[in-house]
Amino acid sequence: ARITLRQLLDHAAEHEYGLPAFNINNMEQGLAIMEAADAVNSPVIIQASRGARSYANDIMLARMIDALAEIYPHIPVCMHQDHGNGPATCATAIQYGFTSVMMDGSLMEDAKTPASYEYNVEVTRKVVQMAHSCGVSVEGELGVLGSLESGMGEAEDGHGFEGVLSHDELLTDPDQAVDFVGQTGVDALAIAMGTSHGAYKFTRKPDGDVLAMNVIEEIHRRLPNTHLVMHGSSSVPQDLQDIINQYGGEMPQTWGVPVEEIQRGIKHGVRKINVDTDNRMAMTGAIRKILAEKPGEFDPRAYLKPAKEAMRKVCQARFVEFGSAGHA
Ligand code: G3H
Ligand code: 13P
Ligand code: NA
Ligand code: ZN
Repeated sequence: ARITLRQLLDHAAEHEYGLPAFNINNMEQGLAIMEAADAVNSPVIIQASRGARSYANDIMLARMIDALAEIYPHIPVCMHQDHGNGPATCATAIQYGFTSVMMDGSLMEDAKTPASYEYNVEVTRKVVQMAHSCGVSVEGELGVLGSLESGMGEAEDGHGFEGVLSHDELLTDPDQAVDFVGQTGVDALAIAMGTSHGAYKFTRKPDGDVLAMNVIEEIHRRLPNTHLVMHGSSSVPQDLQDIINQYGGEMPQTWGVPVEEIQRGIKHGVRKINVDTDNRMAMTGAIRKILAEKPGEFDPRAYLKPAKEAMRKVCQARFVEFGSAGHA
């Protein structure tokens, strides 16, 4: 059954757990998420980026979500627009049946240029008005995602900003967070505390200097009733790096966000945790392994099924680790 983000996160807050939000681009990923949720009885947040919507086609994506919800009628599903870049993207997501939208006003509509605070408030408030009148939830973002190691802010295409941002600019300001939530009425707030998208987050296991979980704790103290969202929260597990590299891949050694740090966040108001990279790596590792071991294989099902299975394992682990298992 369809459910809004607000309904899911209110329940998560009441029962003190977190929900992973997994990205979808194709059928195999959708099935992997739902099979995992069904196995451990977890509610689900499926999210689609603008890139996913153009890759899969809006109609295909919308029908796929309908199909997944019909196959698993007992699993509550929130369909969320990931990183909406403006009111038009959010409005068309709502037209296609999404029950939640992210208005990422931390960047301008080009998804490359950092936005002013005033722009962010204005565009987010506008989307909240529009979405709430349709019964749809809204996630806002305050603070620019990026690396505290390099000082680089992050554009949507994964490249860093030209200008190196100061340490403080890469962290969400708690005073501003209070003002932002009050002015916009968002249902959930994504914050910046040192994570970035993709596999290359940290050059060593992160400590408090590069992953500022204390910022989350401070914001939660000031906004105890606001659901917080962590982006860039793949853990980039060593075993997934190893399998890719063992079968011909070339991924330099890297570190993600340790699951125990996310669990600490969940104790301090984090309710939605975005995970895409881990699933991409799981699928790629499985496909590389099959193609390396069976070079004569040419039936796509021979590698897509193991890829789906590898992603299911990651999803299932996160449902258990973040505590949403058992709450469907
Ligand atoms: O926001 C980042 C997600 O991993 C989606 O990535 O824009 O390449 O689909 P994408
Ligand atoms: P990862 O790249 O760490 O999986 O982050 C995904 C994300 O934040 C999607 O919005
Ligand atoms: Na999002
Ligand atoms: Zn994100």
